[in-house]
Amino acid sequence: TRVLSVASECVPFVKTGGLADVAGALPGALASAAVEMRSLLPFYPAVREATGEVPSVFQIEDLFGGAAAIRRGQMGAAAIYFLDAPHLFDRAGNIYLGPDGKDWPDNPVRFAALSRAAALIALHGIEGWRPQALHLHDWQAGLTPVYLREFRLAERIKTLITIHNIAFQGLAPAHLLSALDLPAQGFTRDGFEYWGQISALKAGIVYADKISTVSPTYAEELMTPQFGMGLEGVLRDRAGDLSGILNGIDLEVWAPDYKTRRGKEKHTKALRAEFGLPEGDGPLCVVISRLTGQKGLDLLIEALPALLENGGQLALLGSGDAAMEAQFRALAERHPAVAVHIGYDEALSHRMIAGGEAILVPSRFEPCGLTQLYGLHYGTLPLVSLTGGLADTVIPATAATLAAGVATGIQFNPVDTQSLVNAIHRLCRLYRQPDIWDKMLRNAMAHPVGWDSSARAYADLFQTITGPV
Ligand code: ADP
Ligand code: GLC
Repeated sequence: TRVLSVASECVPFVKTGGLADVAGALPGALASAAVEMRSLLPFYPAVREATGEVPSVFQIEDLFGGAAAIRRGQMGAAAIYFLDAPHLFDRAGNIYLGPDGKDWPDNPVRFAALSRAAALIALHGIEGWRPQALHLHDWQAGLTPVYLREFRLAERIKTLITIHNIAFQGLAPAHLLSALDLPAQGFTRDGFEYWGQISALKAGIVYADKISTVSPTYAEELMTPQFGMGLEGVLRDRAGDLSGILNGIDLEVWAPDYKTRRGKEKHTKALRAEFGLPEGDGPLCVVISRLTGQKGLDLLIEALPALLENGGQLALLGSGDAAMEAQFRALAERHPAVAVHIGYDEALSHRMIAGGEAILVPSRFEPCGLTQLYGLHYGTLPLVSLTGGLADTVIPATAATLAAGVATGIQFNPVDTQSLVNAIHRLCRLYRQPDIWDKMLRNAMAHPVGWDSSARAYADLFQTITGPV
C-alpha cells in the first residue's frame, strides 16, 4: 500500500514534541508491513539546514499568495517531500510561534497550504508515484480531506487522521473561508464549522475515512466532555471509525547499554555528578517534559516535599511556560536535592533516562506519552497518572500485580496533589525494598515498547481503507 504521511514536524528534521518522533518512525516501521510510506513536511529553515540543497520535483504556481515548490529528500530508506513555500515557512524561530510567544497569525494559512499540497500530490502524483491513502497528523493536516473532495478524489484516495492532541484544533475566523479555498457549504455544524469558526481538526474528523489516536484509553476519553474539548460529540458520532493505536519508540535510538540494576548504577552516579545532586535514601527521579498545564508539573511542585522527606532527588529537563520555568529554577536554588535544566537537550535527555531511577509523568491528560516508554525500556520506573496512554503502558504496583510479579511502575488517580503525594510515598517504600524494586525493573525492561504490533495495526487500517489491491 502506498501512503503519504502529512505532518508539521518530523524527526530527524524538526521536533517540538512526540508527534515528530511518531512521524519520523512510522515510515521505517511500516516498511516491513508492506506499506510504502512517504512523507510531506514544511521546508522550515531548520529543515533546510538539516538537508542542504535538495532538488525541486513539483511546482505550485500559487499556494495562498506565493509560489511554492516541493523538494525531495530522503529519510532512512523512504522518500520525504518538503513543501518549500518561503512566504509561509521561511522564517526564523519556533515553527508554530512568533517572537511574542503567540501562534503565528497566519498559521491557518500556513497549514492549509500543507494540506492543499498533500491533496495536489494525490491529484497529480509526484515523481510518478501516487498515494492510495493519506495519513494525516493533527489539525495541521486536517483540511486535506476537504481539498480531496474539492478535487473529486475522495472516492479514490482514502484518508486516516491521527489525533495526537485534541487540545490543538486549528481554529480560524470564518472570513478566511474563501482565502483558504474552502467550500462555503462545508461551513456547517455537520461540516468543519465550530462555534462560528473554521476548525481544521474537525474537518479531518468529519471527512477522513478513519480516525485514530495514540492510545486505546485516549480514544475512549476523547468521547467524553472531560477530555474531548468540545469535539466529544463529533467523535461519538464516528465511534465506529475511531481506534487507538499505541505509539512505539525507536529501539535503535533508545538502546540501554545495560540489562540489570547493577549495570545502571554507573549512569545514576554520573547523572548525580552532572546535576550536582547528593546521594540519598530515596530514588533519583527525572522529568523530561514540555512545561505546560497538560503535564501536571504544578502538582509535582506541590508534592515535592514528599519526595524530599524520603531522601529522594529530582532532576528536571524542560521548557515552556515562563512562570513554571521560574518556579522550578527557584526550587532548585532552595533545595540541594533538586536540580533543573531549562532548555531543550536531546543528548541530556538520554543521559537522564539512563541515569534516573524513576521517571515522573503526572499529566492531566496524555494521549500517549513517550517518556514513560523510554523509562520502561531503561528500567527507570515510571510514576504516572492514570490517564490516556499512561494508563495503557504502565502496570501499576498493587498488591495483586506485585503478588503476580508483573508490576512495572506506579500509577495515581485522581490527578491531584494528594494522590501524587501518596504515589511518591509508595514509590519510595518500594525503593527501600531492593528485591521488589529489582523485580519491577526487570519487568519494565522486558515490556515491549517498540513499533512492531502498532505498525501492524496501522498497516491493517490502511489495508482496510484502500481495499484489496
Ligand atoms: P508531548 O508530545 O506531549 O510533548 P511526548 O511524551 O509524546 O509528549 O513526547 C515528548 C518528546 O519530546 C519526548 O521524545 C521527550 O523526550 C522530548 N522532550 C520534551 N522536552 C524535552 C527537552 N526539554 N529536552 C529534550 N527532549 C525533550
Ligand atoms: C502529543 C501528545 C503525546 C503523544 C504525542 C505523540 O504531543 O501530547 O501524549 O505521545 O503527541 O503521539
